[in-house]
Amino acid sequence: MKFLAARRRQPVVALAMLLFALVAVGGGYAAVGTVRPAEAAGAASSQTQVEMGKQLYLQGCSSCHSLQSQGSTRAPTLIGVGAAAVDFQVSTGRMPLAAPGVQAVPGPRQYNEEQTAALAAYIASLAPGPAIPNAEQVDFASADVAEGGVLFRVNCQQCHQAAGQGGALTQGKYAPSLMDSTPTQMYEAMITGPESMPIFSDATLPEENKKAIMAYVDYLQNASDPGGLSLGRLGPVTEGLFLWTAVFGALIAVAVWIGIKAR
Ligand code: HEC
Ligand code: HEC
Repeated sequence: MKFLAARRRQPVVALAMLLFALVAVGGGYAAVGTVRPAEAAGAASSQTQVEMGKQLYLQGCSSCHSLQSQGSTRAPTLIGVGAAAVDFQVSTGRMPLAAPGVQAVPGPRQYNEEQTAALAAYIASLAPGPAIPNAEQVDFASADVAEGGVLFRVNCQQCHQAAGQGGALTQGKYAPSLMDSTPTQMYEAMITGPESMPIFSDATLPEENKKAIMAYVDYLQNASDPGGLSLGRLGPVTEGLFLWTAVFGALIAVAVWIGIKAR
C-alpha cells in the first residue's frame, strides 16, 4: 500500500486502484444482492406451478368447466372449490370426466402427482377454498378407533354402510366403497362434500373426530375375515342367505345326483 500510495499519481497505479475499487463495490453488491433472488425462488416456483396448472386446465378441463372456470351447462363452476376438491377429483380418477352420467365414476388417475398439484394450485389461485390437508392433519396414529366407529355409524354409515362397503342412493346414485380410499382422500371428501355427500366442516366434525373416523376406516381396510369370505361384511343376514342358497342348494343337488345314480 505504501508502495502504491507513493506512486498514486502515476496513471497506471490510479487505474489499478480504480479497478480494485470497482471490483470491491461490485462484488460486495452482488454478495448482498443475491439474498433477494434466493428468497423469491419459492414464490417463483409456485408461480410456474400455477402457470403449468393453467396450461393443463386449458387442455383437459376447460371444454366442460369453461375457459374462465365459471362452469357451463356441462359442468359446475370451479371458482372457490379449492385445491382439496381438485386433488380429490383428479387423484381418484373422477376428473377429467370420462362420460356424462348421474355421478362421476372413480377410475385410473390421468394426471401424475406433479400435474395434479399444478391443477390444484391453479384452481386455488382463482379464489380461496379448502386446501389440501397437510401431513399432520391426516396423521391418525394416535386417534381412537372405537370412537371413530361410533362417529362413522352416526355420520357416514347411512350412505357408505357400517363396514364402509358402499351402498345405493336414490336416482341411480351411490355412495362408493371406502376400501381403497387414502387418508388424504377421506379428509378431502369430508371437507369438500363431492356430489350428494354433505360437507363436514370443523364445526360439525372437529379435526380429532375426522382423525378417529380415518383410523376406523383404516381398521376396516386392514381387518381380516376369520370365517373366510367377507360377504360384504353385511352380517348374519347375508351369512344366513348364503347358507340357504349356496349350501342348501349344493346339498339338494347332491341328493338329486345320488337319486339319479341309484336308478
Ligand atoms: C366431460 C366434462 C368434464 C371434464 C373434461 C372435466 N370435468 Fe370436472 N366435472 C364435470 C361434471 C359434470 C362435474 C360434476 C359431477 C359430479 O359432481 O359428480 C364435475 C365436477 C368437478 C369438480 C368438483 C366440483 C365441486 O363442486 O366440488 C372438480 C374439482 C372438477 N370437476 C375438476 C376438474 C378438473 C381439474 C378437470 C380437468 C383435469 C375436469 N374437472 C374435467 C365435468 C367435467
Ligand atoms: C348422504 C350420503 C353420504 C354421507 C352421509 C357420507 N357420504 Fe361419503 N360419499 C357419498 C357419495 C355420493 C360419494 C361419491 C361422490 C362422487 O362420486 O362424486 C361419497 C364419496 C366418499 C369418499 C370417496 C370414495 C372414493 O371412491 O374415492 C369418501 C372417502 C367418503 N365419501 C367418506 C365419507 C365419510 C368419512 C363420511 C362420514 C363422515 C361420509 N363419506 C358421509 C355420500 C355420502
